[in-house]
Amino acid sequence: MVSLFYFKSKVMTQLKIAIQKSGRLNEDSIRLLKECGIEFNNGINKLKAEAFNFPLEVFFLRDDDIPEYVASGVADIGIVGENVLLETNSDVKIIDRLGFGKCRLSIAVPKGKKYAGVKDLEGKRIATTYKNVLQKFLRKEKVNAEIHEISGSVEIAPGIGLADAICDLVSSGSTLFMNGLKEVETVLKSEALLVANKNLDAKQLEIVERLLFRIRSVRKAKHNKYILLNAPNDKLDKIVKLIPGIKSPTILPLADEGWSSVHSVIEEDKFWEIIENLKNAGAQGILVVPIEKMIV
Ligand code: PRP
Ligand code: ZN
Repeated sequence: MVSLFYFKSKVMTQLKIAIQKSGRLNEDSIRLLKECGIEFNNGINKLKAEAFNFPLEVFFLRDDDIPEYVASGVADIGIVGENVLLETNSDVKIIDRLGFGKCRLSIAVPKGKKYAGVKDLEGKRIATTYKNVLQKFLRKEKVNAEIHEISGSVEIAPGIGLADAICDLVSSGSTLFMNGLKEVETVLKSEALLVANKNLDAKQLEIVERLLFRIRSVRKAKHNKYILLNAPNDKLDKIVKLIPGIKSPTILPLADEGWSSVHSVIEEDKFWEIIENLKNAGAQGILVVPIEKMIV
């Protein structure tokens, strides 16, 4: 037993991934790994977990720390918000945009205040936890404003007289709304990114590739639906032309003479338009089912 354990810990290359411990990206990051078929325990208060069926060790960290941990090699890869990465300006490689955790970093002012444009921020005090990104934005806009860096609850700063405006993350907008603030400038748009240390070795990169392949298959599947329908044979040509599948659709004869069953894959954003056209063309019994993984 001892020697077996020794073998495992010394020889097997394992990739360390840092994900957010709690907050905006936590649930979606865990879900993504699980959808990739990677099993691990993610109990509360856990600092790290080893995957049972993939050479991956998951570190649960504060989002603000993830870019530096990846840059320094404490973790090999990480899932982090673009907003956090740009603020810390860490030296990591972006390997994929993950499409979740979408939000924006915006400047907001009290609802009652007149705001005609970015020049209205001249000489004002802006509270934020995103000092660097804000500074860059103000410089680009040639606005001189005073940046008040605070560590949290930015949205209350104008109400207590600490600042004239704030620069903070917005996703649903409810935090701004509840604090009587209106969004006036978008500083940046953000989503979750997969980032990597720049000095991974060949073995580590191979695991990254395997993971990336799974991530892309999961994402592809989400954007597509499997569609099944029945079509009268005399309308088959017309119906088949309406379905832009990955390849040509599968057509099977039904027991009912004069009818066929058509199977294909369609993209989600074209979905309703295609369904309407199919119905109008005489398709019946249309079934649309989600796809779990899609390997193309
Ligand atoms: C951000 C931001 C707001 C909230 C905005 O905090 O500071 O409090 O989200 O979201 P809404 O528009 O949906 O109301 P976050 O939860 O990211 O926490 P953190 O900044 O402390 O990491
Ligand atoms: Zn944070």
